[in-house]
Amino acid sequence: MATRILFLGVAALVIIVAGADQSPLQDFCVANPSNGVFVNGFACKDPRMVQANDFYFGGLHLAGNVSNPVGSKVTPVTVAQLPGLNTLGISLARVDYAPWGINPPHTHPRATEILTVIEGTLEVGFITSNPDNRLITKVLSKGDAFVFPMGLIHYQRNVGYSNVVAIAALNSQNPGVITIANAVFGSNPDIPTDLLAKAFQVDKSIAGQIQSKF
Ligand SMILES: *[C@@H]1O[C@H](CO)[C@@H](O)[C@H](O)[C@H]1NC(C)=O
Repeated sequence: MATRILFLGVAALVIIVAGADQSPLQDFCVANPSNGVFVNGFACKDPRMVQANDFYFGGLHLAGNVSNPVGSKVTPVTVAQLPGLNTLGISLARVDYAPWGINPPHTHPRATEILTVIEGTLEVGFITSNPDNRLITKVLSKGDAFVFPMGLIHYQRNVGYSNVVAIAALNSQNPGVITIANAVFGSNPDIPTDLLAKAFQVDKSIAGQIQSKF
């Protein structure tokens, strides 16, 4: 039953989402990542060699492993997992959340996201850009959908005592993810600790302590 609802949700989302990536100039351009040509996206596999499996991804009925510090797991279906998505401006993800697990504040630099809850109760939120930085939140139940506008920082949290399953659709073949805490406190190499201390208006030891966690 849950699986059937999941795939109905997926089908509905695929119809709703329009591309922010550039429009295709041909029926398809199945990604050929081993081609040495660097273009925006991936070079195309010879169309005569394309198979059904180039347009296929299986396994979204399987729960992700949420045994990690944040208590959530994203199973992405982007061009990296499904080469047929190349040039099509769309992708998908399954997100699993342990009770009180979070998908920490993050942004997708290339996509708007629409998410629907398949199981459980999920708090969602996004923050508007400067100067207001208004937080817009809502608690979603099974069957609800919510949109995170392009580029804005957003998060989700399981606010129930059972697992949550959500399906997200994004209008890019490669939406990208920037997790705020990891990017700012876990960059490689580190952002200077005194700079972070000033940016976050905390003592240098606190900034250093957070950096040591990432
Ligand atoms: C889930 O992840 C944890 C932590 O990495 C690991 O110890 C555990 O074996 C994993 N469970 C499954 C079922 O893969």
